[in-house]
Amino acid sequence: MALRNVQLTPELVQAVRDAVDIVDIAGDYTKLRKAGKRHGGLCPLHKEKTPSFSVEPAQGLFYCFGCGQGGDAIRLHMLLTGDDFPAAIEALARRYGVPLPRRRSGGGSSGPDLEPALEAAAEFFTDQLRRQAKPRAYLEERRIPAELIEEFGLGYAPPGWQNLLEALQARIPQAELEAAGLVGRSRKSGKPYDRFRDRLVFPIRSAAGRLLGFGGRALDDDPAKYVNTAETAGFHKGRLLYGLDRARRSIREAGRLLLVEGYFDVLGAVASGIDWTVASMGTALTTEQARLAARYVDEVVVGYDGDAAGEQAFRRILPELLRQGLGVRRARFGAGHDPDSLRLESGKEAVAEAIEAAADAVALEVDRLSPPEAVSDPRHVARAASAIGELLQTIPDAVLRFGYGRRAAARLQVPEELLWRRAAPPPAAEGVPGREPGLVRSLEERTLQLLLSGSEPPPLVDRLPPPEAFRDDAMRNIYGVFCTLYRDGSGERPDPQLIVAELAADDGVVDRLARLLLEGPFASPSGELEEAFKQLKRRWQQQRLRSLASEIGEAQRAGDEARLKRLLSDKTALSRDLHHRPDGGDR
Ligand code: UTP
Ligand code: MN
Repeated sequence: MALRNVQLTPELVQAVRDAVDIVDIAGDYTKLRKAGKRHGGLCPLHKEKTPSFSVEPAQGLFYCFGCGQGGDAIRLHMLLTGDDFPAAIEALARRYGVPLPRRRSGGGSSGPDLEPALEAAAEFFTDQLRRQAKPRAYLEERRIPAELIEEFGLGYAPPGWQNLLEALQARIPQAELEAAGLVGRSRKSGKPYDRFRDRLVFPIRSAAGRLLGFGGRALDDDPAKYVNTAETAGFHKGRLLYGLDRARRSIREAGRLLLVEGYFDVLGAVASGIDWTVASMGTALTTEQARLAARYVDEVVVGYDGDAAGEQAFRRILPELLRQGLGVRRARFGAGHDPDSLRLESGKEAVAEAIEAAADAVALEVDRLSPPEAVSDPRHVARAASAIGELLQTIPDAVLRFGYGRRAAARLQVPEELLWRRAAPPPAAEGVPGREPGLVRSLEERTLQLLLSGSEPPPLVDRLPPPEAFRDDAMRNIYGVFCTLYRDGSGERPDPQLIVAELAADDGVVDRLARLLLEGPFASPSGELEEAFKQLKRRWQQQRLRSLASEIGEAQRAGDEARLKRLLSDKTALSRDLHHRPDGGDR
């Protein structure tokens, strides 16, 4: 959902930075308590029982001592919502009322802005639902609570070919209605017509809440039970999870999500008190959808229909979910039931019970593939072993993989090694870097901490050690940016947020910067920074001296007199600096 219609200018980014309130953003996902200048609480980015998440509004930064992630408000928003940078800027701009510069439509690849057309249509549909008895009776019969109708923004597209067209004509150009997939055009006559007719309409939004399209349910036995917005420039069902925009918060709180097939399953599950529900909108789950889920949780409960198609779909999506490192459980609602039909037949409690009773999906599959009676048939055992091996290969966590492997081997009565021979254990998963949070320890980290936190006056610009004095790549990067900004600002200590902004492309470095800024102790004996600089410089000079020695040897061998002379004088100056300066005479 990169912003296609809003121009991402440095001014806009800066205006967003100025407007956002990091406590506010974090507060959407976790309860914060103020302690001094800081706010602390449970980390919304990983599961934990004791608070290690810290926000400092004055600096506009957060850091988690548990998972090691940190940065500014924009980064926090990105991590919490899964938005990319442009989408984050847009969402935050909207939230804090920063005006968005609009790109003129029709220009280049950006395409027209479909949002006004979609929003206008959504308004028309909800208004129609309020006015018309037929869809209301339908919802009543399906016992959808009024609050949910409101919350999900359900609407109704009336029968007839040009209702929407006529209602929006004055405000929205027809071309935009067509581009948004709301209006089609007859091939024969070229006459425009409403795509959604006599259907209950579900607005479909991105995780960040942008309206992207609609799903329309026929009210009677239409052969096309659902009609969805065509895949337009901004609408790709396979990249969205229906309901995620409103469930984000409860999903984080629950630490897991319930994945169901369709719109009504979401309504049924939410009406049963399972707020943390989203739908894949059909039986297939794309890799993108699995990845989207994995941004929010590490466990998914699959609540697909209890029919053969649902069972098959479950088996198809299981590897997709496992590959994302997700734990998977399978809820069963009984033959032929989905969450909504079970709610209607047996009540909310039955749905909640089915979710709570959801069993480990891999164990279920292992058991299904290795029925006790199969053990007597070697050919069956071989088939089962390779099917199980294939499934287990998708699990990134080696320990977990071996745990299931042991279970399978025992059931099939074969040595475990045989199972792995059929399916070599995959290499460790990427993208799950082992973070190693800890105390700020190194000289380089401490130097930067003192320098950035402002607990001591910064040194004069020309007394800053060169960036090469830092050996740790991340620290050297941060220091390099500090120096540039410091020089540009002619000796003004740069705002940490500016440094974060400069480093934004490198998440790992931003994490470490945030930690430096939020991790104490800051109080230092005065002169600590001065001393740290001296140590750094000395270390660097010693290193430089060693490399000078070998360069001198080279110059001698090569008989390069001019170079030798230069190197020798460098060396003399360096060693004088290093050995003969009296303590404190460094000014
Ligand atoms: P279902 O047929 O299970 O529909 O399709 P449902 O949501 O349970 O609806 P009810 O309860 O029968 O009224 C599951 C989902 O698959 C997508 C929709 O997102 C639907 O909610 N789907 C299904 C389509 O997009 N098009 C279709 O023609 C059918
Ligand atoms: Mn269904």
